[in-house]
Amino acid sequence: MKDIVENRRRIPLEKKLSIAAIMLRENGVIWCASFATYYAASTLAQQAFALMDRQRRLYAVPGMNSRALNKAIWESWDWNAGGEEWTPSEPWKKAIIEYVLHGFMPKGGRVLEIGPGAGRWTGELIQRADALTGVDISASCVEVCTEKFGSTGKATFMVGSGHDLSGIETASVDALWSFDVFVHINQAEVERYADEFNRVFKPGAIGIIHHGSVGGARGGWRSNLTHEAMLDLLKKRGFDIVDSFKEFTHEGTTHQTGLYEDVITVFRKPMA
Ligand SMILES: C[S@@+](CC[C@H](N)C(=O)[O-])C[C@H]1O[C@@H](n2cnc3c(N)ncnc32)[C@H](O)[C@@H]1O
Repeated sequence: MKDIVENRRRIPLEKKLSIAAIMLRENGVIWCASFATYYAASTLAQQAFALMDRQRRLYAVPGMNSRALNKAIWESWDWNAGGEEWTPSEPWKKAIIEYVLHGFMPKGGRVLEIGPGAGRWTGELIQRADALTGVDISASCVEVCTEKFGSTGKATFMVGSGHDLSGIETASVDALWSFDVFVHINQAEVERYADEFNRVFKPGAIGIIHHGSVGGARGGWRSNLTHEAMLDLLKKRGFDIVDSFKEFTHEGTTHQTGLYEDVITVFRKPMA
């Protein structure tokens, strides 16, 4: 919609009027009235989005990304599709698993997954880990994952506050995975999580986080976190950035890490 609104602004008024005349002749009144409604509504929607964006930047309102809203929304989500509604294609998912998960996650050890949802990535993580703990702000996700993976004997799930890891022991984690979660968490809460990564990571532990990069400017219910802010806040806490990318090429095909210019950042806690 954004593209359509921006592109049509470049057409001068007299051309728009002659285009409207052709449209009326070729499509009739009902179609044209519907088009006019769509045209006006999309312009209004674009202006409303810009106003919301301004409010977030000027007054730091949390938008759709507060802990309370994340909890309320994800506790009422219908998890029957298992989170696969966010998988654009099977080849994309295979590439994320092979290039990102297998490529950067160490084998064995204790894995922490933040926001497992209905376990779209959890089964794969459990297969590689010695043990996995999933922390999610939503009690319904914890229930779904416990039912799906509890019998493996390798996985436990707990409800978290949404910005700390108080249930996780200090220096106990070898690797962290979080996909499609930090895209929804505002910077202030990401900063608190990053403090916790420092506490719970063992020296040398790896973190892999999928997150937003443009502070919500492209929509998609993304948080105010930007790419620069994410890299800065990790570096400030002493983490080394291993890689940070919007797209990657696997077996000859280039894939986006996500929609709305999302990024995957891989970071490491230095050896003591
Ligand atoms: C879009 S779903 C993604 C679920 C899963 N990771 C996947 O990729 O299918 C977002 C998940 O993040 C969780 N979540 C949202 N905010 C969170 C927070 N502040 N801390 C922990 N989990 C959070 C939600 O409860 C939900 O499980």
